[in-house]
Amino acid sequence: MNPYLNDFPILQEKENGRRLVYLDNAATTQKPLSVLKAVEEYYRTENANPYRGLYSLSVRATQAYEDARHTVAEWIGAGDDSEIIFTRNATESLNLVAYSYGLPFLREGDEVTLSVLEHHSNLVPWQMVAKAKGVKLNFLYPDASGRLTDEEIEKKITPNTRVVAVTHVSNVLGTVNPAAKIIDAAHRAGAVVVLDCAQSIPHFPLNVGELDVDFAAFSGHKMLAPMGVGVLYGKKALLEKMPPFLTGGEMIEYVYEQDATFAPLPQKFEAGTPNVGGAVGLAEAVRYLRKVGYDTIQKTEAELLAYALQGLAAVPHVTVYGDKTGARDRCGVISFNVDGVHPHDVATILNEDGVAIRAGHHCAQPLMRYLGINAACRLSLYFYNTKEDIDIFLESLKKVRGWLGYGA
Ligand code: ALA
Repeated sequence: MNPYLNDFPILQEKENGRRLVYLDNAATTQKPLSVLKAVEEYYRTENANPYRGLYSLSVRATQAYEDARHTVAEWIGAGDDSEIIFTRNATESLNLVAYSYGLPFLREGDEVTLSVLEHHSNLVPWQMVAKAKGVKLNFLYPDASGRLTDEEIEKKITPNTRVVAVTHVSNVLGTVNPAAKIIDAAHRAGAVVVLDCAQSIPHFPLNVGELDVDFAAFSGHKMLAPMGVGVLYGKKALLEKMPPFLTGGEMIEYVYEQDATFAPLPQKFEAGTPNVGGAVGLAEAVRYLRKVGYDTIQKTEAELLAYALQGLAAVPHVTVYGDKTGARDRCGVISFNVDGVHPHDVATILNEDGVAIRAGHHCAQPLMRYLGINAACRLSLYFYNTKEDIDIFLESLKKVRGWLGYGA
Protein backbone atom coordinates (compact mmCIF):
# COMPACT_ATOMS: atom_id res chain seq x y z
CA MET A 1 0.00 0.00 0.00
CA ASN A 2 1.33 3.41 -0.97
CA PRO A 3 1.47 5.45 2.28
CA TYR A 4 0.55 8.69 0.47
CA LEU A 5 -2.53 7.47 -1.38
CA ASN A 6 -4.92 8.32 1.45
CA ASP A 7 -3.73 11.93 1.46
CA PHE A 8 -5.38 12.45 -1.94
CA PRO A 9 -9.20 12.42 -1.72
CA ILE A 10 -9.74 12.27 -5.50
CA LEU A 11 -7.72 9.06 -5.73
CA GLN A 12 -10.41 7.39 -3.61
CA GLU A 13 -13.01 8.25 -6.26
CA LYS A 14 -14.35 5.92 -8.92
CA GLU A 15 -14.29 6.45 -12.71
CA ASN A 16 -16.72 4.41 -14.80
CA GLY A 17 -17.38 2.26 -11.74
CA ARG A 18 -13.66 1.46 -11.39
CA ARG A 19 -11.02 2.80 -9.04
CA LEU A 20 -9.49 5.89 -10.67
CA VAL A 21 -6.02 5.07 -12.01
CA TYR A 22 -4.55 8.49 -12.56
CA LEU A 23 -1.55 8.41 -14.90
CA ASP A 24 -1.67 11.94 -16.30
CA ASN A 25 0.52 13.65 -13.73
CA ALA A 26 2.59 15.55 -16.29
CA ALA A 27 -0.62 17.37 -17.25
CA THR A 28 -1.56 18.13 -13.67
CA THR A 29 -1.11 16.43 -10.32
CA GLN A 30 -3.81 15.69 -7.78
CA LYS A 31 -3.99 17.71 -4.56
CA PRO A 32 -3.38 16.42 -1.04
CA LEU A 33 -5.90 17.20 1.69
CA SER A 34 -3.45 19.54 3.43
CA VAL A 35 -3.33 21.78 0.32
CA LEU A 36 -7.10 21.73 -0.06
CA LYS A 37 -7.46 22.63 3.63
CA ALA A 38 -4.88 25.43 3.48
CA VAL A 39 -6.71 27.08 0.58
CA GLU A 40 -10.07 26.68 2.31
CA GLU A 41 -8.65 28.05 5.56
CA TYR A 42 -7.23 31.07 3.77
CA TYR A 43 -10.61 31.88 2.19
CA ARG A 44 -12.43 31.21 5.47
CA THR A 45 -10.23 33.35 7.69
CA GLU A 46 -7.82 35.62 5.79
CA ASN A 47 -9.29 36.58 2.45
CA ALA A 48 -9.04 40.26 1.47
CA ASN A 49 -7.31 42.14 -1.30
CA PRO A 50 -3.62 42.28 -0.28
CA TYR A 51 -1.52 45.48 -0.23
CA ARG A 52 -4.56 47.70 -0.86
CA GLY A 53 -6.38 47.55 2.47
CA LEU A 54 -5.32 49.24 5.72
CA TYR A 55 -7.53 46.99 7.82
CA SER A 56 -6.22 43.90 9.63
CA LEU A 57 -7.73 41.35 7.27
CA SER A 58 -5.97 42.85 4.26
CA VAL A 59 -2.72 42.98 6.21
CA ARG A 60 -3.14 39.28 7.02
CA ALA A 61 -3.79 38.49 3.33
CA THR A 62 -0.62 40.42 2.40
CA GLN A 63 1.31 38.49 5.05
CA ALA A 64 -0.01 35.15 3.78
CA TYR A 65 1.01 36.05 0.22
CA GLU A 66 4.48 37.24 1.21
CA ASP A 67 5.00 34.21 3.48
CA ALA A 68 4.20 32.03 0.46
CA ARG A 69 6.76 33.94 -1.61
CA HIS A 70 9.37 33.42 1.11
CA THR A 71 8.60 29.69 1.31
CA VAL A 72 9.12 29.35 -2.46
CA ALA A 73 12.28 31.51 -2.46
CA GLU A 74 13.86 29.42 0.29
CA TRP A 75 12.78 26.16 -1.31
CA ILE A 76 14.47 26.87 -4.67
CA GLY A 77 17.52 28.61 -3.22
CA ALA A 78 16.73 32.14 -4.47
CA GLY A 79 18.91 34.84 -2.96
CA ASP A 80 16.03 37.20 -2.29
CA ASP A 81 12.22 36.94 -2.01
CA SER A 82 11.86 39.68 -4.64
CA GLU A 83 13.32 37.29 -7.23
CA ILE A 84 10.11 35.25 -7.01
CA ILE A 85 7.36 36.55 -9.28
CA PHE A 86 3.97 34.92 -8.92
CA THR A 87 2.27 34.32 -12.26
CA ARG A 88 -0.67 32.20 -13.42
CA ASN A 89 1.48 29.30 -14.61
CA ALA A 90 4.76 28.37 -16.32
CA THR A 91 3.34 29.57 -19.64
CA GLU A 92 2.84 33.08 -18.29
CA SER A 93 6.29 33.03 -16.66
CA LEU A 94 7.92 32.08 -19.96
CA ASN A 95 5.95 34.71 -21.87
CA LEU A 96 7.06 37.27 -19.31
CA VAL A 97 10.73 36.55 -20.07
CA ALA A 98 10.21 36.56 -23.83
CA TYR A 99 8.27 39.83 -23.82
CA SER A 100 10.15 41.70 -21.07
CA TYR A 101 13.66 40.42 -21.77
CA GLY A 102 13.58 39.18 -25.37
CA LEU A 103 11.73 42.08 -26.99
CA PRO A 104 13.64 44.95 -25.40
CA PHE A 105 17.14 43.43 -25.26
CA LEU A 106 17.50 41.31 -28.41
CA ARG A 107 18.50 42.75 -31.78
CA GLU A 108 18.52 41.63 -35.39
CA GLY A 109 21.18 38.96 -35.90
CA ASP A 110 21.02 37.73 -32.30
CA GLU A 111 20.25 34.06 -31.77
CA VAL A 112 18.00 32.23 -29.34
CA THR A 113 18.79 28.56 -28.81
CA LEU A 114 15.91 26.26 -27.91
CA SER A 115 15.53 22.51 -28.05
CA VAL A 116 13.11 20.63 -30.25
CA LEU A 117 11.85 19.07 -27.00
CA GLU A 118 10.21 22.35 -25.95
CA HIS A 119 6.59 22.58 -24.91
CA HIS A 120 4.90 25.20 -27.11
CA SER A 121 4.95 27.61 -24.17
CA ASN A 122 8.75 27.82 -24.31
CA LEU A 123 8.76 28.04 -28.11
CA VAL A 124 5.90 30.17 -29.45
CA PRO A 125 6.80 33.23 -27.30
CA TRP A 126 10.33 33.12 -28.77
CA GLN A 127 8.89 32.83 -32.28
CA MET A 128 7.02 36.09 -31.56
CA VAL A 129 10.27 37.73 -30.44
CA ALA A 130 12.11 36.33 -33.46
CA LYS A 131 9.54 37.78 -35.85
CA ALA A 132 9.43 41.16 -34.14
CA LYS A 133 13.19 41.57 -33.79
CA GLY A 134 14.74 39.60 -36.65
CA VAL A 135 16.25 37.12 -34.22
CA LYS A 136 17.27 33.63 -35.39
CA LEU A 137 16.03 30.52 -33.56
CA ASN A 138 18.46 27.59 -33.27
CA PHE A 139 17.42 24.14 -32.12
CA LEU A 140 19.12 21.45 -30.09
CA TYR A 141 18.11 17.98 -31.29
CA PRO A 142 18.17 14.90 -29.05
CA ASP A 143 19.80 11.57 -29.91
CA ALA A 144 17.76 8.38 -30.28
CA SER A 145 17.46 8.01 -26.50
CA GLY A 146 16.03 11.53 -26.21
CA ARG A 147 19.23 13.07 -24.81
CA LEU A 148 21.01 16.31 -25.72
CA THR A 149 24.68 15.49 -26.24
CA ASP A 150 27.62 17.70 -25.24
CA GLU A 151 28.56 18.10 -28.92
CA GLU A 152 25.08 19.31 -29.79
CA ILE A 153 25.13 21.84 -26.95
CA GLU A 154 28.58 23.17 -27.90
CA LYS A 155 27.62 23.38 -31.58
CA LYS A 156 24.28 25.17 -31.19
CA ILE A 157 25.29 27.75 -28.59
CA THR A 158 27.28 30.25 -30.64
CA PRO A 159 28.91 33.63 -29.97
CA ASN A 160 25.69 35.18 -31.35
CA THR A 161 23.46 33.33 -28.86
CA ARG A 162 21.88 35.78 -26.45
CA VAL A 163 19.26 33.51 -24.87
CA VAL A 164 19.13 29.75 -24.31
CA ALA A 165 15.59 28.66 -23.45
CA VAL A 166 15.27 24.95 -22.68
CA THR A 167 13.08 22.61 -20.77
CA HIS A 168 14.63 20.86 -17.76
CA VAL A 169 12.58 17.72 -18.41
CA SER A 170 10.78 16.78 -21.62
CA ASN A 171 7.01 16.51 -21.09
CA VAL A 172 6.94 13.86 -23.84
CA LEU A 173 10.06 11.73 -23.34
CA GLY A 174 10.75 12.35 -19.65
CA THR A 175 14.42 13.03 -20.42
CA VAL A 176 16.25 15.25 -17.95
CA ASN A 177 18.28 17.77 -19.91
CA PRO A 178 21.82 18.54 -18.68
CA ALA A 179 20.95 21.95 -17.22
CA ALA A 180 24.36 22.61 -15.65
CA LYS A 181 26.18 21.95 -18.93
CA ILE A 182 23.74 24.10 -20.90
CA ILE A 183 24.06 26.95 -18.40
CA ASP A 184 27.85 26.74 -18.49
CA ALA A 185 27.96 26.80 -22.30
CA ALA A 186 25.44 29.67 -22.43
CA HIS A 187 27.30 31.77 -19.89
CA ARG A 188 30.58 31.22 -21.72
CA ALA A 189 28.85 32.64 -24.80
CA GLY A 190 27.45 35.56 -22.78
CA ALA A 191 23.84 34.33 -23.08
CA VAL A 192 21.17 34.13 -20.40
CA VAL A 193 19.37 30.86 -19.68
CA VAL A 194 15.65 30.34 -19.25
CA LEU A 195 14.91 26.94 -17.72
CA ASP A 196 11.39 25.56 -18.01
CA CYS A 197 11.10 23.59 -14.77
CA ALA A 198 7.39 22.74 -15.08
CA GLN A 199 8.17 19.02 -15.46
CA SER A 200 11.24 18.88 -13.22
CA ILE A 201 10.39 20.60 -9.95
CA PRO A 202 7.63 18.11 -9.05
CA HIS A 203 10.24 15.31 -9.22
CA PHE A 204 13.65 16.57 -8.13
CA PRO A 205 15.13 19.57 -6.35
CA LEU A 206 15.86 22.85 -8.06
CA ASN A 207 18.50 25.14 -6.61
CA VAL A 208 18.65 28.25 -8.75
CA GLY A 209 21.60 29.62 -6.80
CA GLU A 210 23.77 26.52 -7.26
CA LEU A 211 22.74 26.17 -10.90
CA ASP A 212 23.38 29.87 -11.50
CA VAL A 213 20.38 29.86 -13.84
CA ASP A 214 19.10 33.28 -14.95
CA PHE A 215 15.38 32.52 -15.16
CA ALA A 216 13.37 29.46 -14.07
CA ALA A 217 9.65 28.93 -14.64
CA PHE A 218 7.19 26.47 -13.16
CA SER A 219 3.50 25.89 -12.47
CA GLY A 220 1.98 25.15 -9.09
CA HIS A 221 -0.60 22.71 -10.41
CA LYS A 222 1.99 20.17 -11.58
CA MET A 223 3.42 19.98 -8.04
CA LEU A 224 0.28 19.42 -5.94
CA ALA A 225 -0.82 23.07 -5.73
CA PRO A 226 -4.00 24.56 -7.20
CA MET A 227 -4.26 25.63 -10.82
CA GLY A 228 -3.79 29.33 -11.53
CA VAL A 229 -0.55 29.97 -9.67
CA GLY A 230 2.92 29.75 -11.17
CA VAL A 231 6.38 31.11 -10.53
CA LEU A 232 9.04 32.95 -12.41
CA TYR A 233 12.41 33.06 -10.70
CA GLY A 234 14.72 35.67 -12.16
CA LYS A 235 18.08 37.05 -11.09
CA LYS A 236 17.44 40.39 -9.44
CA ALA A 237 19.86 42.31 -11.66
CA LEU A 238 18.03 41.07 -14.77
CA LEU A 239 14.50 41.58 -13.43
CA GLU A 240 15.39 45.09 -12.33
CA LYS A 241 16.39 46.22 -15.78
CA MET A 242 13.41 44.60 -17.52
CA PRO A 243 10.26 46.60 -18.29
CA PRO A 244 6.95 45.28 -16.90
CA PHE A 245 5.04 42.62 -18.80
CA LEU A 246 1.45 43.34 -17.77
CA THR A 247 0.53 46.78 -16.50
CA GLY A 248 -2.21 48.17 -14.26
CA GLY A 249 -3.04 47.98 -10.57
CA GLU A 250 -0.37 47.73 -7.86
CA MET A 251 2.61 47.50 -10.24
CA ILE A 252 3.12 51.26 -10.38
CA GLU A 253 4.81 53.90 -8.26
CA TYR A 254 3.41 57.15 -9.74
CA VAL A 255 0.98 57.47 -12.61
CA TYR A 256 0.53 60.68 -14.61
CA GLU A 257 -1.74 61.31 -17.55
CA GLN A 258 0.94 60.48 -20.11
CA ASP A 259 3.40 58.33 -18.17
CA ALA A 260 4.01 56.12 -15.17
CA THR A 261 6.86 54.89 -13.00
CA PHE A 262 6.91 51.37 -11.70
CA ALA A 263 6.94 49.66 -8.32
CA PRO A 264 10.06 47.82 -7.15
CA LEU A 265 10.37 44.03 -7.48
CA PRO A 266 8.42 41.84 -7.28
CA GLN A 267 5.29 44.06 -7.61
CA LYS A 268 6.52 45.49 -10.93
CA PHE A 269 5.65 42.13 -12.50
CA GLU A 270 2.45 41.40 -10.59
CA ALA A 271 -0.22 43.65 -12.08
CA GLY A 272 -3.77 43.30 -10.75
CA THR A 273 -5.19 41.40 -7.80
CA PRO A 274 -2.98 38.38 -7.21
CA ASN A 275 -3.99 34.78 -6.60
CA VAL A 276 -3.33 34.75 -2.85
CA GLY A 277 -5.28 31.54 -2.26
CA GLY A 278 -3.22 29.85 -4.98
CA ALA A 279 0.05 31.08 -3.47
CA VAL A 280 -1.03 29.82 -0.03
CA GLY A 281 -1.82 26.45 -1.62
CA LEU A 282 1.55 26.44 -3.35
CA ALA A 283 3.38 27.08 -0.07
CA GLU A 284 1.47 24.21 1.53
CA ALA A 285 2.36 22.00 -1.44
CA VAL A 286 6.03 22.84 -0.81
CA ARG A 287 5.64 21.84 2.84
CA TYR A 288 3.96 18.59 1.82
CA LEU A 289 6.69 17.78 -0.74
CA ARG A 290 9.33 18.51 1.89
CA LYS A 291 7.63 16.07 4.24
CA VAL A 292 7.52 13.34 1.61
CA GLY A 293 11.07 14.19 0.51
CA TYR A 294 12.54 14.18 -2.97
CA ASP A 295 14.51 11.01 -2.12
CA THR A 296 11.28 9.11 -1.60
CA ILE A 297 9.70 10.70 -4.67
CA GLN A 298 12.62 9.76 -6.90
CA LYS A 299 12.99 6.26 -5.52
CA THR A 300 9.27 5.51 -5.87
CA GLU A 301 9.07 6.94 -9.37
CA ALA A 302 12.21 5.13 -10.55
CA GLU A 303 10.77 1.79 -9.40
CA LEU A 304 7.42 2.51 -11.05
CA LEU A 305 9.09 3.71 -14.25
CA ALA A 306 11.20 0.55 -14.53
CA TYR A 307 8.12 -1.57 -13.83
CA ALA A 308 6.03 0.25 -16.46
CA LEU A 309 8.78 0.14 -19.12
CA GLN A 310 9.27 -3.56 -18.50
CA GLY A 311 5.53 -4.17 -18.70
CA LEU A 312 5.16 -2.14 -21.89
CA ALA A 313 8.05 -4.02 -23.53
CA ALA A 314 6.02 -7.20 -23.11
CA VAL A 315 2.86 -5.83 -24.77
CA PRO A 316 2.87 -6.66 -28.50
CA HIS A 317 2.45 -3.86 -31.05
CA VAL A 318 3.59 -1.10 -28.69
CA THR A 319 6.34 1.39 -29.59
CA VAL A 320 7.90 3.44 -26.78
CA TYR A 321 9.70 6.68 -27.74
CA GLY A 322 13.03 7.83 -26.32
CA ASP A 323 14.78 6.03 -23.47
CA LYS A 324 13.45 2.55 -22.70
CA THR A 325 15.86 1.64 -19.93
CA GLY A 326 14.57 3.79 -17.07
CA ALA A 327 18.03 5.34 -16.73
CA ARG A 328 18.70 7.80 -13.94
CA ASP A 329 18.48 10.99 -16.00
CA ARG A 330 14.87 10.24 -16.72
CA CYS A 331 11.52 11.08 -15.11
CA GLY A 332 8.42 8.89 -15.04
CA VAL A 333 6.96 10.00 -18.37
CA ILE A 334 6.48 7.40 -21.13
CA SER A 335 5.16 8.19 -24.59
CA PHE A 336 4.10 5.31 -26.78
CA ASN A 337 1.87 4.24 -29.62
CA VAL A 338 -0.08 1.09 -30.39
CA ASP A 339 0.25 -0.12 -34.00
CA GLY A 340 -2.76 0.77 -36.11
CA VAL A 341 -4.60 2.58 -33.32
CA HIS A 342 -4.97 6.34 -32.97
CA PRO A 343 -3.77 7.52 -29.54
CA HIS A 344 -7.18 9.11 -28.91
CA ASP A 345 -8.79 5.67 -29.31
CA VAL A 346 -6.27 4.15 -26.90
CA ALA A 347 -7.01 6.82 -24.27
CA THR A 348 -10.78 6.46 -24.75
CA ILE A 349 -10.66 2.68 -24.36
CA LEU A 350 -8.43 2.94 -21.25
CA ASN A 351 -10.87 5.41 -19.76
CA GLU A 352 -13.49 2.64 -19.76
CA ASP A 353 -11.30 0.90 -17.18
CA GLY A 354 -10.88 4.07 -15.11
CA VAL A 355 -7.36 4.69 -16.46
CA ALA A 356 -6.50 8.33 -17.21
CA ILE A 357 -3.65 8.94 -19.65
CA ARG A 358 -3.07 11.79 -22.11
CA ALA A 359 -3.11 11.36 -25.88
CA GLY A 360 -2.30 13.87 -28.61
CA HIS A 361 0.64 16.06 -29.53
CA HIS A 362 1.29 17.09 -25.92
CA CYS A 363 1.83 20.73 -26.92
CA ALA A 364 5.08 19.64 -28.56
CA GLN A 365 4.32 19.47 -32.28
CA PRO A 366 7.92 20.05 -33.48
CA LEU A 367 9.04 17.10 -31.34
CA MET A 368 6.23 14.95 -32.73
CA ARG A 369 7.43 15.77 -36.26
CA TYR A 370 11.03 15.03 -35.25
CA LEU A 371 9.89 11.63 -33.97
CA GLY A 372 8.00 11.07 -37.23
CA ILE A 373 4.57 10.85 -35.61
CA ASN A 374 1.47 13.04 -35.34
CA ALA A 375 0.53 12.08 -31.83
CA ALA A 376 1.27 9.65 -29.00
CA CYS A 377 -0.22 8.20 -25.84
CA ARG A 378 1.51 9.31 -22.67
CA LEU A 379 1.48 7.93 -19.17
CA SER A 380 3.10 10.03 -16.47
CA LEU A 381 3.78 8.91 -12.92
CA TYR A 382 3.90 10.50 -9.51
CA PHE A 383 4.89 9.18 -6.09
CA TYR A 384 1.28 8.34 -5.18
CA ASN A 385 1.00 5.83 -8.03
CA THR A 386 1.37 2.12 -7.39
CA LYS A 387 2.41 -1.03 -9.23
CA GLU A 388 -1.26 -1.98 -9.16
CA ASP A 389 -2.03 1.19 -11.16
CA ILE A 390 0.46 0.05 -13.78
CA ASP A 391 -0.92 -3.50 -13.79
CA ILE A 392 -4.44 -2.15 -14.43
CA PHE A 393 -3.08 0.13 -17.16
CA LEU A 394 -1.22 -2.75 -18.85
CA GLU A 395 -4.22 -5.10 -18.69
CA SER A 396 -6.40 -2.43 -20.22
CA LEU A 397 -3.81 -1.65 -22.91
CA LYS A 398 -3.60 -5.32 -23.90
CA LYS A 399 -7.31 -5.21 -24.79
CA VAL A 400 -7.10 -2.18 -27.08
CA ARG A 401 -6.32 -3.83 -30.42
CA GLY A 402 -8.84 -6.59 -29.75
CA TRP A 403 -11.55 -3.96 -29.14
CA LEU A 404 -10.83 -2.52 -32.56
CA GLY A 405 -11.04 -5.87 -34.29
CA TYR A 406 -7.35 -6.71 -34.69
CA GLY A 407 -6.20 -10.28 -34.07
CA ALA A 408 -3.29 -10.95 -31.69
N1 ALA B 1 1.95 20.82 -20.17
C1 ALA B 1 1.04 19.83 -19.74
C2 ALA B 1 1.32 18.48 -20.35
O1 ALA B 1 2.39 18.22 -20.82
C3 ALA B 1 -0.37 20.23 -19.88
O2 ALA B 1 0.42 17.66 -20.34
